[in-house]
Amino acid sequence: MNNDYLLSKPYLINSEDLTSEDIAAIFEKARYFLEDYPKQRKFTDLKGITVALAFFEPSTRTKLSFELAAKRLSADTISFASSSSSLTKGESLIDTLRTIEAMDVQMYVVRHANSGVPKFLQENTRGVILNAGDGKHEHPTQALLDSFTLWRHFGRVEGLKVCIAGDILHSRVARSNINVLKTLGAEVALCSPGTLLPRYLNPWNVKLIESIDDAIEWADVLLMLRLQRERMESGILPSIREFSKFYGVSLEQFSRKPDLVLMHPGPVNYGIELDYRVSSFPNCLIQTQVTHGVFIRMALLSLLSKFVAV
Ligand code: CP
Repeated sequence: MNNDYLLSKPYLINSEDLTSEDIAAIFEKARYFLEDYPKQRKFTDLKGITVALAFFEPSTRTKLSFELAAKRLSADTISFASSSSSLTKGESLIDTLRTIEAMDVQMYVVRHANSGVPKFLQENTRGVILNAGDGKHEHPTQALLDSFTLWRHFGRVEGLKVCIAGDILHSRVARSNINVLKTLGAEVALCSPGTLLPRYLNPWNVKLIESIDDAIEWADVLLMLRLQRERMESGILPSIREFSKFYGVSLEQFSRKPDLVLMHPGPVNYGIELDYRVSSFPNCLIQTQVTHGVFIRMALLSLLSKFVAV
């Protein structure tokens, strides 16, 4: 492992910020942490650094795994919850950032319901910003942990046929995954009802597959997405039951191709995107994705800590 490697950008806002060399360095670092953690339990990469976990939108996996990652690297952490902050008294986002900066915080993990907030913060701070999911825009750390999971499972990402299925329109996970998978040389397809594709159809110029049966037949990997009802205008789907019937994966469909690898970023709407019984199949990697999330976020914090101003 090259310990001197510097990522091409001193922050992580978009998956497009990452070159294939960056991704290779992140995977190598994550693999090192994954394999050494059982022996070492604690690393010192972030000793003396404070990380703010600024989640303006709910999260279980991303928030907890970033917190754990920072702690395993010996960082100090502070948690910011917008609902119990002075934002509720009218303080602006930029004043909130200035306030946290004044407490000598160097790294910021930001989730926000509005696309563009992590970029706005990055343009207004000397701190290091990591995007933990912004609106419908990007979720780059999720895409990295998804591809890392494939890299560990298959020994490569290049040449894999990955179909991303479900609610593409509202999905930051889809946007980030398409970029990272294409950078790594995977073949990417989408399977979704027309109303859940972006208005300017297929801006990524990837293959479109109409039925979930055809997607299962074509793909090595099916990456299911959550139906994001909280971001959905009414009338976009005839009914949830119909979506589930035509775009969900049943036990019977999965059983027809047991070597198909199934992934989902979570949280899963079981019974809508996926039959619950499918989750216990060995090729269903949902829990592995969660485990890998901690090591990918350790790798990113460690590599980006090299840009902390001293
Ligand atoms: N995959 C994901 O971002 O999950 P959380 O919303 O629980 O963080």
